[in-house]
Amino acid sequence: MTILLPDTTTLPSPLGGTLVNRVRRAGHDFDPASLTGLPRLEVSERTLADLEMLGTGAYSPLTGFLGEADYLSVIERLRLADGTPWSVPITLPVAREDAARLHGRVVLTHAGQDVGWIDVQELYEARKALEAREVYRTEDAAHPGVAALYAQGDLNLAGEVALFEVPRGAFPRHHRTPAEVRATIEARGWRSTVAFQTRNPIHRAHEYLQKVALELVDGLLLHPLVGTTKGDDVPATTRVRAYEVLLEQYYPQARTLLSVYPAAMRYAGPREAILHALSRRNYGVTHFIVGRDHAGVGSYYGTYDAQEIFSAYTPQELGVQILKFEHTFYCNSCGQLVSPRTCPHDASHHLVLSGTKVREKLRAGENLPREFTRPEVAEVLRAAYAERS
Ligand code: ADX
Repeated sequence: MTILLPDTTTLPSPLGGTLVNRVRRAGHDFDPASLTGLPRLEVSERTLADLEMLGTGAYSPLTGFLGEADYLSVIERLRLADGTPWSVPITLPVAREDAARLHGRVVLTHAGQDVGWIDVQELYEARKALEAREVYRTEDAAHPGVAALYAQGDLNLAGEVALFEVPRGAFPRHHRTPAEVRATIEARGWRSTVAFQTRNPIHRAHEYLQKVALELVDGLLLHPLVGTTKGDDVPATTRVRAYEVLLEQYYPQARTLLSVYPAAMRYAGPREAILHALSRRNYGVTHFIVGRDHAGVGSYYGTYDAQEIFSAYTPQELGVQILKFEHTFYCNSCGQLVSPRTCPHDASHHLVLSGTKVREKLRAGENLPREFTRPEVAEVLRAAYAERS
């Protein structure tokens, strides 16, 4: 892997060339009275997250939920209909019985509040089996992403959207739009920035990948996903707390930015790795970390499938460099974090804990080994689990 490092602050152009901004403020960009009497559609938390991603430009060049030509093209060719790389369909599912009343401008609501609108251009049949097979590589309803797909409405509503407010919700201090992250990177003068996606509590292997990357690039965007995750994943509030605690003591403040990534987790492995990388390019980073089984779940994907899939695009098309890491773990004989690339010892010397194992230990009130998780993080997790039970 050749790692290219710019010698001046170089923010990559957003995908498609322009950072999309579909934020439209009531009383500022439009008259709220104009929404009276329009059809309303209540959307799920995951759709609200996609609306935010669209509205703030995190999904540039998309300006709305995908129409049928783009939908099929993304599923079948890993590209939008115009050839732009894109890997996961961003759709607005609706139930068949709602279809007849949804036309023109439809106001989107969440928990009864107006959150945005869609100008309906198309309504089409979702190809759920095809989408499951191609995007998730399985039709098994036990896969959490496939389960969510099967549970949603059978039709997709397509068209440009508006987002009324950036929902800064649970993490106001860490919630930044792509434009805000870009401005921070520029203000800090980082010539190159690596983003780290995560949905799990930080452990030593994560920290190792981040810090190896930080030996090469100027800045680190810690970008934990805080949208909907499957029920047994550790809640975002606990994960973010763990980051805060760790950052205070073990990370160079001037070279680290903790910011949250609002999207829902799809568990689409390789396809989602691409989505994560392209979206982080929109946030202004030059590099993106992909380790073992990125965005995977169970044993649906090969350990490095999420790295190999990037060969579908040229580096120019991607516009963000993928830093690929092999499986990393603690080796008792080396006395440090290692990977198969750096360690000569066999598996009997290695401490490897799966996410499931970690959750089991936490539920049982057991300690996590300090070689696996720093004690400060273990304490945050232990306290959160104790509170829950
Ligand atoms: S993910 O669903 O967001 O990918 P997780 O938070 O566990 O899950 O992983 C975040 C990133 O770290 C991903 O790029 C993943 O591949 C990588 N990663 C996690 N654990 C390891 C490990 N032990 N060795 C190498 N890479 C890892």
